[in-house]
Amino acid sequence: MSVLKGKVALVTGGSRGIGRAIAEVFASVGATVVICGRKLYALDHVAGDNEILSGRIVPMQCNVTRYAEMEGLVQTILAQHGRIDVLVNNAATNIYTGYALELGEAEFDRIIDVNLRSVYRMTGLVAPTMCERGSGSIINVASTAGIRPEPHNLLYSMTNAALLMMTKSYALELGPRGVRVNAIAPGLVETEMSAYIWKDEQKLAEHMAMQPLRHLGQPEEVAEVALLLASERSSLVTGQTFVVDGGALVA
Ligand SMILES: NC(=O)c1ccc[n+]([C@@H]2O[C@H](COP(=O)([O-])OP(=O)(O)OC[C@H]3O[C@@H](n4cnc5c(N)ncnc54)[C@H](OP(=O)(O)O)[C@@H]3O)[C@@H](O)[C@H]2O)c1
Repeated sequence: MSVLKGKVALVTGGSRGIGRAIAEVFASVGATVVICGRKLYALDHVAGDNEILSGRIVPMQCNVTRYAEMEGLVQTILAQHGRIDVLVNNAATNIYTGYALELGEAEFDRIIDVNLRSVYRMTGLVAPTMCERGSGSIINVASTAGIRPEPHNLLYSMTNAALLMMTKSYALELGPRGVRVNAIAPGLVETEMSAYIWKDEQKLAEHMAMQPLRHLGQPEEVAEVALLLASERSSLVTGQTFVVDGGALVA
């Protein structure tokens, strides 16, 4: 299968978890995938593990809270690969859990920078080049927390809700120029970010008891949905949020 043959994708936060799985699935069907993150050694590791894939995984260091680094990243990709067909805004953080009234302005600013401003800025850098070519797919990895607030997780829930509206707003404006913009809202997925839940036996058991599909979500299961949204097989789909949560939200 080579549905992304010849396509160039950029996946932020591609060194582990969901971003890594997305990069690997895209590369396995022919794409050249640039992955970015703050730690180059972790990105190099992913590229090294995937040398045999039919596409290619290219590691490039970039902190998505630093605009100059983002500009440099996009310019380098355009210079080396000619274009970006698929942008996956995946990098995010969930560092501030706790009581809403105990959160400070520094935490508020930090999470806006990592989870929201980064997506706004990256889209601002990449989308115009897609519009010029008249095609492209942008995928924002959000969370079910943006639809149903998580307890003691105001900042994460709030930024993900904003991300879903950002997705719809961009879809409205960029659609006439050939660019599709969709979001994926995963539920609990086994990655480093959510380890504080799935490594805790009681929390995991509580979660699984209410999730209709009784297995812990895997990054690859999110990646398969990203592949659909990246490919022309979803050519009539824009402005949508795809919930990938084993049915937890409807339970
Ligand atoms: N896991 C879940 O249960 C779950 C549920 C719902 C939604 N999600 C969403 O899925 C996405 C991926 O989450 P994950 O669980 O795969 O997280 P993860 O395992 O913690 O991975 C996060 C990735 O983002 C990168 N990153 C973090 N801050 C960055 C920054 N400032 N600049 C560049 N890269 C940065 C990390 O690399 P470096 O540390 O090297 O920078 C890493 O590659 C996020 O948007 C998250 O909100 C996850």
